[in-house]
Amino acid sequence: MNATLVTGGAGYIGSVTVEALVARGETVVVLDNLITGHREAVDRAIPFYEGATGDRELVRKIVAEHGVDSCVHFAALSSVAESVADPERYLSNNAVQGMALFEELVRGGVRHVVLSSTAAVYGEPESNPIAEDAPRKPVNPYGMTKVVLEQALEALDRSGQITFAALRYFNAAGATGTRGEDHRRESHLIPIVLAAAAGRRDGMTIYGTDYPTPDGTAVRDYIHVSDLADAHVKALDHLRKGGESLHINLGTGTGFSVRQVVDTVESVVGNSANAVLGERRPGDPPVLIADPGKGSEILGWTPTQSDLESIVRDAWSWHKARPLGYGS
Ligand code: UFG
Repeated sequence: MNATLVTGGAGYIGSVTVEALVARGETVVVLDNLITGHREAVDRAIPFYEGATGDRELVRKIVAEHGVDSCVHFAALSSVAESVADPERYLSNNAVQGMALFEELVRGGVRHVVLSSTAAVYGEPESNPIAEDAPRKPVNPYGMTKVVLEQALEALDRSGQITFAALRYFNAAGATGTRGEDHRRESHLIPIVLAAAAGRRDGMTIYGTDYPTPDGTAVRDYIHVSDLADAHVKALDHLRKGGESLHINLGTGTGFSVRQVVDTVESVVGNSANAVLGERRPGDPPVLIADPGKGSEILGWTPTQSDLESIVRDAWSWHKARPLGYGS
């Protein structure tokens, strides 16, 4: 049986996807540099390599020794704000190292790549919900690096060397019983509101109350990490069965405002998050909602765990079990 290489398999979405692949009997090998990932997030029974995706020799060795035929490429830096402050780091880590990885995969005979992409490739879309054929106009270096990786895969596909699925996540959230979000510097809404409601931080700020939305706060499409993992499994199946390369939005088609998220967290936790109203965060689009029709039609993927309350309940269970993340 051929193996699937999961880069970034010790990260948030990567580790849940590894869990899903192993649960269905796949042979998996993980490559992660542990800069943002956690060794504890990967079962000890799974072959694990600590290293960079740009370490060509290491990638060559892994592909050859494990008979890798497919790769799910998560490994990346993924903070929008950080990418604006330090674009070189994003170019080098995400784009340059990603290119080196793709080159070694192709040389090693790997046939299929599933790419962790993002709604950030759309920038500030003209309308919502966003379909996959909307123009790619990233407004920050993070989104730009993902466009570059998508384009690289498109070129390799045109030359007949691989087929790929670029999965564009909207707002990943939630947790499984054993794996959840543990970012060293947290910037994501749900973990921040949970920590505030749990009394582990003084409160939180709602960034922007004058958006053109029903309650004035920004609207996002939250998708449960388990539904994301399921989409990766289905995308791999599609490619292995000879399916064409594709770009797929991973969202629910329903948006929730920051205010609605705060209210839901407060009701699940039973405590106030002491939210204060603040200025808009630079670079935040007012509304991002996926048109999820293509994923449903082609991959047969439908989110089943992504209603906001389930997402928040699962994230809360993770937070209670691991208040300080994997270290606790
Ligand atoms: N927000 C607050 N207060 C906070 C944190 C966030 O009001 O303390 C707001 C943000 O301003 C935004 C919303 O909550 O309006 C969601 O913010 P997140 O930081 O949780 O997520 P983003 O929508 O900014 O970004 C996410 C991913 C990116 C990805 C993007 C694509 O983190 O990697 O979705 O849509 F690029």
